[in-house]
Amino acid sequence: MRIIRTTQALRTWRRQQPPGASTGLVPTMGALHAGHQSLVQRARRTCQTVVVSIFVNPLQFGPAEDYRRYPRDLAADLARCREENVDLVFIPKVETLYPRDFQTTVAVSTLAQRWEGECRPTHFQGVTTVVTKLLNLVRPDRAFFGQKDYQQYCLIRQLVRDLDLDTRITLCPTIRDDDGLALSSRNRYVTKTERQRALALYQALSAGKEAIARGTRRAGPVKKRMAKVLGAGHGLDVDYLACCDARTLEPLSRLQGTVVLLGAIRTGGVRFIDNLIVRIRR
Ligand code: PAF
Repeated sequence: MRIIRTTQALRTWRRQQPPGASTGLVPTMGALHAGHQSLVQRARRTCQTVVVSIFVNPLQFGPAEDYRRYPRDLAADLARCREENVDLVFIPKVETLYPRDFQTTVAVSTLAQRWEGECRPTHFQGVTTVVTKLLNLVRPDRAFFGQKDYQQYCLIRQLVRDLDLDTRITLCPTIRDDDGLALSSRNRYVTKTERQRALALYQALSAGKEAIARGTRRAGPVKKRMAKVLGAGHGLDVDYLACCDARTLEPLSRLQGTVVLLGAIRTGGVRFIDNLIVRIRR
């Protein structure tokens, strides 16, 4: 497994790749878990060369967020990458991707405004800027993103389309613990009690999905059901619970087509997001 830390070495490596050999990129912020591993496995199955980037991107953290505290464990990350037969790990320093005179950012407009965009106003611009840079550097045929960050996936798909980037964006299923909690690097921070509270988000989204499966076609009752199961208060704050069109992320009143149930909560200073996609046939 090759490790590269500079953009120059990465570009040289890229130029040396045989024409026609497909390259898959899994962009990460490290602290790799089984969710990342499943992205790498998907990349491994579909591409000849697999690249993982590990970079805790300061641009996507707000001033009061956990950039400094974000879990970092490079030795364990590299061991996981080796286990998964990754070909190349790109580990740039902050000053490599953002030199002192860096002044260009990439922003997606409408899709970035709601939900996470409202709660974390500078977050998506940081994500779309770093992902654009990574796609430019690696020039992968495919890049792999997890469904847990569904809004992020929608933005990246949009930016690839809008900027005519030659990469296919693949959405991979959320990986959950046995109790249903979506895997996230930040789960390492949480106490048992917070974890127990956070589980209510998945339970609420599942209750919303069941209500739709039973025939409810109005968003109002579905949201009411989700809010009831979530039972805010007692150390749990709700940022949003929504029934949206899975493509535009606009809130729906009548549920039809492909719907995404989105939720974000805070407990004990940790934020949890999750979502479920529901396909309605009629
Ligand atoms: O999903 C993440 O881990 C990050 O937002 C990403 C896509 C690696 C960009 O820093």
